[in-house]
Amino acid sequence: MALFKKKPKEYDKSSLPKHVAIIMDGNGRWAKKRSLPRMMGHRAGADALRKVSRFAGNMGIEYITVYAFSTENWKRSDEEVSGLMSLLLEYLKNAEKELGADDVRIRVIGDTSRFSDEIKEQIVRVEKLTQNNTSVTVTLALNYGGRDEILRAAKNIALDVKSGLVDINDIDEKLFSSKLYTDYMPDPDLVIRTSGEMRLSNYLLWQSSYSEFYFTPVLWPDFGEKEFTQAIDEYLSRNRRFGGR
Ligand code: FPP
Repeated sequence: MALFKKKPKEYDKSSLPKHVAIIMDGNGRWAKKRSLPRMMGHRAGADALRKVSRFAGNMGIEYITVYAFSTENWKRSDEEVSGLMSLLLEYLKNAEKELGADDVRIRVIGDTSRFSDEIKEQIVRVEKLTQNNTSVTVTLALNYGGRDEILRAAKNIALDVKSGLVDINDIDEKLFSSKLYTDYMPDPDLVIRTSGEMRLSNYLLWQSSYSEFYFTPVLWPDFGEKEFTQAIDEYLSRNRRFGGR
């Protein structure tokens, strides 16, 4: 067995995407293919997330944002929702130990008010413990929905206008972006979705206006260093014009 850690391929950092957003899809199908319970798929998915986070950080990616629980995921069976909550709690409890050494900063976006007090406490704890880590910021989108986020921003701005804090003529894209959960990060340069589905599913709707999209049939638990490198290589071969020529 090789004793050295696999080094990521060397890239010129200035050409790399600063921000990669990921829709981690296919955990259920991964488990089904192996006749395992769905939760085993989610567990393997959490392992894949840890691996990809470390690898992306070593490569020089600054932000990774993953769709870990959508506003629609509450519709799943009680058993699956409570299994996902336990896994999330475990992930948060161990995150500093497992990812802190790799200098990963953890942040959470979304409406966390619906989560248990224990989960909310762990979110605050892990965000604080990792706040000075500098290799990559891994943001977990939890109870997140893009439309919900846009509505919240619109309501906040309406309140600011009503109270005289903001003049209606000053509402522009920059101000709007500053009211989104993602105010601390650049827009994603690349959005990856695994498992062959080709939809955005209410993810980062405002932020992905000019993102490059990468779809792969690989199921999320099988998505590792090789697949991440392939996605980056594909991104680097694209010609981004942002609406220009
Ligand atoms: C989609 O697979 C995945 C999810 C709904 C949850 C994502 C969760 C993880 C990757 C693991 C947990 C993460 C943390 C941070 C604890 P699916 O169930 O929709 O797969 P399917 O379409 O094959 O059924």
